[in-house]
Amino acid sequence: MARPFNFSAGPAVLPLEVLEQAAAEMLDWHGSGVSVMEMSHRGRDFMSICEQAERDLRELLAVPTSFRILFMQGGGLGQNAIVPMNLIGRLASHTADFVLTGSWSIKSQAEARRYGQAHVAAQLDGERPVSLPPPSTWRISTSPSYVHLCSNETIDGIEFQEVPDLRALGCDAPLVIDCSSHIASRAIDWRRVGLAYAGAQKNIGPAGLTLVIVRDDLLGHALPICPSVFDYRTVASQNSMFNTPPTYAIYIAGLTFQWLRRQTEAGLNGLAAIEARNIAKAKLLYECIDNSSLYRNDVHPDCRSRMNVPFFLANESLTELFLLQAREAGLLQLKGHKSVGGLRASLYNAMPIDGVHALVRHMQAFEATHA
Ligand SMILES: Cc1ncc(COP(=O)(O)O)c(C=O)c1O
Repeated sequence: MARPFNFSAGPAVLPLEVLEQAAAEMLDWHGSGVSVMEMSHRGRDFMSICEQAERDLRELLAVPTSFRILFMQGGGLGQNAIVPMNLIGRLASHTADFVLTGSWSIKSQAEARRYGQAHVAAQLDGERPVSLPPPSTWRISTSPSYVHLCSNETIDGIEFQEVPDLRALGCDAPLVIDCSSHIASRAIDWRRVGLAYAGAQKNIGPAGLTLVIVRDDLLGHALPICPSVFDYRTVASQNSMFNTPPTYAIYIAGLTFQWLRRQTEAGLNGLAAIEARNIAKAKLLYECIDNSSLYRNDVHPDCRSRMNVPFFLANESLTELFLLQAREAGLLQLKGHKSVGGLRASLYNAMPIDGVHALVRHMQAFEATHA
């Protein structure tokens, strides 16, 4: 039976090749006689899996040697507390600045208030965001310990098309980005980033693993209340083995990094190839929406997310029928987030272009019947 196309916002679709390899290696990893799940995290076999995953990720995202890659737990929301616990005390101001662009950055700011001053540098325009506040309008505080933004707002479908340059705004604070829902979908300019974090369960692997990529000089500033397992310096000094890391999730993430490195598209390789494919997938779906009188996406074209595409029906009472017929056609998890309703298609790296073609065909057929 053909596999359905899974448009879930996360946990989300994984590359079929990764799942097949994991299945083949489930009972006996490389002749070790045991599953990866059964291995000691400090044994030679798992250490080699973990080191390879880190090397592959570094290579894939071109992470400079001045950054550490940490495999942690606690998810994106965990980092909303762990980042301020590690960074807000860097400077006497005990202030972090937040650029509010949607649901996830609002949550980050609310959580940081527990650890210091959480200054709002830019506000949402209107109740639901449809555009990004231009960096030239941000009101950054005098001397923040860091500036935080969410580079892809998963619920609202809004994405920064490039990492903003704080230095160009006269600010030398490190920029922290929550890139949970578009990590490894496009290149990152590390010169503009101090720390990037991402839950793995959208574009990388199973839930339970959180990636933190942090510049060396940002280690060692944790508040005294910060638990040791969440102190970046401690985690870095033990190569993410201070306590038992999420071993199986790291293994699957490692297979995904290898899969990403193998990708080719229009003469491009690895991340460039996957980015080209992501651009093509998003274009296909947005064109279908924009050429229709039944579907609508309100986000300004300059900041539409390539990964998460929320859309609404002109006649909202048809939404349930659309979802039912989509499921019957093998198109799963298209319901919009409960806070906004409507529909949402997540087009993560592992969603093949055939899946987007199938979705567009379904949308056009549905419109032909119900417009
Ligand atoms: C951008 C973003 N940040 C944070 C989170 C929360 O992540 P978690 O559920 O791993 O805590 C999500 C989850 O969807 C997200 O999309």
